Amino acid sequence: MSCPARLSCDPAQEGDQLGEEAGMLYGEYLMLDKVLGAQRLLSVQNKHPVHDEHLFIVTHQAYELWFKQIIFEMDSIRGIFSDVLEESQTLEILKRLNRIVLILKVLVDQVMILETMTPLDFMEFRNYLCPASGFQSLQFRLLENKLGVRQENRVKYNQNYTKVFGNDEGAMKAIESSESEPSLTDLVQSWLERTPGLEMEGFNFWGKYQDAVEVLLNEQKQLAEKEPCENVKQYHLSDLEKRREVYESIFKPEVHQALMARGERRFTHKALQGAIMITFYRDEPRFSQPHQILTLLMDIDSLITKWRYNHVLMVQRMIGSSQLGTGGSSGYQYLRSTLSDRYKVFVDLFNLSTFLIPRKYIPPLSSFMKSHLCLIWGTRDQNGSANGESSSNTNKTE
Ligand code: HEM
Repeated sequence: MSCPARLSCDPAQEGDQLGEEAGMLYGEYLMLDKVLGAQRLLSVQNKHPVHDEHLFIVTHQAYELWFKQIIFEMDSIRGIFSDVLEESQTLEILKRLNRIVLILKVLVDQVMILETMTPLDFMEFRNYLCPASGFQSLQFRLLENKLGVRQENRVKYNQNYTKVFGNDEGAMKAIESSESEPSLTDLVQSWLERTPGLEMEGFNFWGKYQDAVEVLLNEQKQLAEKEPCENVKQYHLSDLEKRREVYESIFKPEVHQALMARGERRFTHKALQGAIMITFYRDEPRFSQPHQILTLLMDIDSLITKWRYNHVLMVQRMIGSSQLGTGGSSGYQYLRSTLSDRYKVFVDLFNLSTFLIPRKYIPPLSSFMKSHLCLIWGTRDQNGSANGESSSNTNKTE
């Protein structure tokens, strides 16, 4: 047991408590009277208090606050991307993207807390909140649009999502800007299109990559033709034919365009080239952060899809598969239809794996490219400029 005499001279317990005389206090700074005074239980007002309505409201409010923070981070990232990006800023982008990813992880897990409410408890107050629905969440729509979910990719019921904001001028204005301003995916694509090494007159990565794929497919064809068993041989040959077609879908711009028109591919041809190049040479110092950015963008898509999935499961648990939603949709069935790739804005990054080739076939970097991508503090590129500042073909990881 500790001695009282020792406690009284414990420096950890020293110091005065500052109060109002020192200025603004915690509650005032955070405007907690507003935040904590915003839980109005309709069941209480209707004289049938339902314990779980408190959790229902707090959970939704917590989501909306985190949506606000995500939008805040995403706007700032879009701001950095929309200027000519200095390489020194990629760390800031990484930091903020990572923050969004961590928040989304919390949002995915948070669904579990609401699932502690039973469907019977929910039924007790569901009628009071009708026709309110998460479908009317303005911030969720802004988040989707700012990421780059396009109107034409939304499922049918979701096509005219703006209808619910009809009388709210401020909301409609915010939605219009979020649809017309360059989205995160637009900006990422412009950045990828400027990947150093794509220039045909320079390193010409794309030409070299096509040659490497040709070598790979030819070698594999030769191997397949040596196969003694006819069935196995035909299997390998037809598989190779299919793979050749897949590669052609990126080598032939017209095929790529056709896939884009069908919504099956979203990235521009040049942006896709940049993403493939960064993926291959991610170990080069100047591609390391861009590669991390691509990974975080995929994480964002994955986590939003996971949130959608967790939300759909929760909805099925609460209202089953055939009750209408309070917002008027088919409920579970509508939400299930939103789980498709239509809502993944970075789907092309996921699909990059289709186009990877074994390491030994990856075109080696020229010595210029090698030193260009290796620039680190204090080093000089081949033109003699420190950190590539004044060289004509440098600083393009913009
Ligand atoms: C008991 C819990 C919940 C139930 C039963 C539920 C039910 C539903 C249903 C049925 C819809 C489809 C639209 C409609 O007709 O109403 C919907 C949409 C939506 N809900 Fe929930 N929800 C719950 C919790 C939440 C929470 C905690 C959030 C967090 C913000 C949320 C956000 C959304 C969003 C953003 C949509 C629109 C999704 C889209 O259109 O892609 N929901 N919800």
